[in-house]
Amino acid sequence: PALIIPSRGWLSAASPDVWYREMRDVGPVHYDAERTCYDVFRFEDVQRVLSDHANFSSQRAGEELTSQSIINMDPPKHMKYRQLVAQAFTPKAIEALAPRIEEIAKELLDEVANQPGFDIIRDFSYPLPVIVIAEMLGVPNEDREKFKHWSDIVVKGVDFEAGETIEDNMKLRHSVTQELGAYFAQVIQSRAIQPSNDLITALLASEVDGEKLTIPELLGFCFLLLVAGNETTTNLIGNTMLSLLETPANWERLVREPDLLNSAIEEGLRFRSPAQSMNRFTKEPVEIGGVTIPEGTEVIAWIGSANLDPEKFDRADEFVIDRNPNPHIAFGMGPHFCLGAPLARLEGRIAIQALMNRFPTMKLVEGAEFKTVASPIIYGLKSLPVVR
Ligand code: HEM
Repeated sequence: PALIIPSRGWLSAASPDVWYREMRDVGPVHYDAERTCYDVFRFEDVQRVLSDHANFSSQRAGEELTSQSIINMDPPKHMKYRQLVAQAFTPKAIEALAPRIEEIAKELLDEVANQPGFDIIRDFSYPLPVIVIAEMLGVPNEDREKFKHWSDIVVKGVDFEAGETIEDNMKLRHSVTQELGAYFAQVIQSRAIQPSNDLITALLASEVDGEKLTIPELLGFCFLLLVAGNETTTNLIGNTMLSLLETPANWERLVREPDLLNSAIEEGLRFRSPAQSMNRFTKEPVEIGGVTIPEGTEVIAWIGSANLDPEKFDRADEFVIDRNPNPHIAFGMGPHFCLGAPLARLEGRIAIQALMNRFPTMKLVEGAEFKTVASPIIYGLKSLPVVR
């Protein structure tokens, strides 16, 4: 996968919202000579970069596994491939998974039920989505741990704080990509011999323009579904829980008025967006926000900033539990709108409902430091310790 270099603003900001506010005001479409890309910060502009595929392309060069996947294709090819998995992710198909997801959430909370406190991330929101997607894909349960490890490395940025260099990170990602590719190739082969009721089997049977998918295309799908939905969903749960618990009145209100759960989750998605940025490449020179971006240039659309833009949202820098309407773009916009959104929302709802039922008087551990993971794309906590 392409190397992720955090921008200076992101690294130096105690919280990215301070950097975002400054950039929306003084450099809403800004060229960064060091990273040789443009950063875009205002809601209107971010929305356009994400959805105007004629000017801002998702296609990229390279032989990485992800370059064969829908997230890196432009229309019309994009739609033909997206259709193959779309059926498995409709709200109706996803709703059918609810009983199983509830069971997984219950089992995870059973394990901490007798402890005075636990870590929402490590014990709950981290394992939950990987178990769900592994079951959907048809990956054997005993491989879950390996899975989680691989998907984490693929999305993580360079951890300068832990002494990691850009080169270390590149090597690590390369070797993990190879391992993951070899692993999926094996699962694909075994499903080809012995079909089952899972996504990999369905993909093996599907065709585009009368042709079966190639192995790199199949691998691209597996790889994307694995990495796109795990850490993002972990952080949807973690970020929303942090936002609720840091102002205990919000948590108490939700426990009293559980009908607010959906709007609390939407506000969690807006206020601390799990996916902070997505990139595109200009096909020709294009004007945006009064700036002309040259052809063939990388453009970073800062979703995290767009969702905090006061031009779009009243009280943008506050977590408003009953915000309505809430036109956030945490799942993107346009043809690439997150395929997994119904699944992420369902998992978020079940997870937080389970926490409300079991631990209604839960509190953050006093004095705990809430560190975010080192990544310019993913926003979430390393841990979220709570007491009952
Ligand atoms: C695309 C965010 C969960 C699968 C996207 C995009 C965003 C996003 C912003 C747009 C990418 C772009 O425009 O280039 C999120 C967030 C999630 C989440 C915030 C959790 C809260 C999931 C889950 C899955 C998933 C659970 C599946 C298991 C995908 C796929 C795409 C995508 C396949 C590519 C769609 C396409 O290119 O047509 N996601 N996602 N996501 N997401 Fe998610």
